[in-house]
Amino acid sequence: MGSKRTPQDYIFREKLGQGSYSTVFRAVERGESGRNYAIKVCSKKHIIRERKVKYVTIEKDTLNSLACGGHPGIVRLFCTFHDADNLYFVLEYVSGGELLGLVQRVGQLSEEWARQLMAQLVDTVDYMHSKGVIHRDLKPENVLLSQEGRVVITDFGAACKAEKSVDERTASFVGTAEYVSPELLLHSQCSFSSDVWALGCILFQLMQGTPPFRGETELQTFEKIVSLDYKWRTPAPPAVVSLVQRILVLNPQERATIAQIKAHQWFQSIDWNNKEKLWRGVWQ
Ligand code: ADE
Repeated sequence: MGSKRTPQDYIFREKLGQGSYSTVFRAVERGESGRNYAIKVCSKKHIIRERKVKYVTIEKDTLNSLACGGHPGIVRLFCTFHDADNLYFVLEYVSGGELLGLVQRVGQLSEEWARQLMAQLVDTVDYMHSKGVIHRDLKPENVLLSQEGRVVITDFGAACKAEKSVDERTASFVGTAEYVSPELLLHSQCSFSSDVWALGCILFQLMQGTPPFRGETELQTFEKIVSLDYKWRTPAPPAVVSLVQRILVLNPQERATIAQIKAHQWFQSIDWNNKEKLWRGVWQ
């Protein structure tokens, strides 16, 4: 792509989402292509006032570092530009809405549907981790669904690079209460296994309709997390229960790794090397 883009190159349409420091709109490229994009608009004034410059920079750098090679499960960043008031991220438009919306509409997913979506999520997190990126805020709001029902992970504003020292990685709480790992709550430490914890919470939610740890207040939610206080509300297949049990383990060193998750009996029918089959849409 040649010269820098400007907001005038797009027709801004409906709002798709609202973050703490940004708003995402559907935008149509002017001219012949008429292509859809999701443009994330961050107000410069707001970012500076709220001290979020670091997060915006992280998001751009992370998406750029994940872009080489590319992966169907990671939202594509086409370009960025700015004007006097805003920063703009031109992202792939993912038209099927958030995974959260699907869970809320359907209540509980069938085992097979959950397996297919989780397999795509696991494959994506595996790729992300192989590039040294920890997402740190995986949750059903940050998982979008394509037209064909494939998962696309978005919102890398809380991400961090694993090559940083543990000190640089020590995090104040950046995630979302219900999916935050016990080690982040107790020791402000975050590693690949914190994303694995979130995957366990998401799997539970796909099968049960609600996340495993949810209190009346954030504090109550945190108390439930650190005491591993969760219950299956409706019967779940034993292999799912067994996998969730291997993931929701307080000690991150004892928690299942991505490799162990892929080898778990619940994923026995998944051929991890057959990417074409793995990424075939759920609706196809
Ligand atoms: N909401 C947030 N990001 C989005 C995207 N890339 N596509 C569609 N909706 C979104």
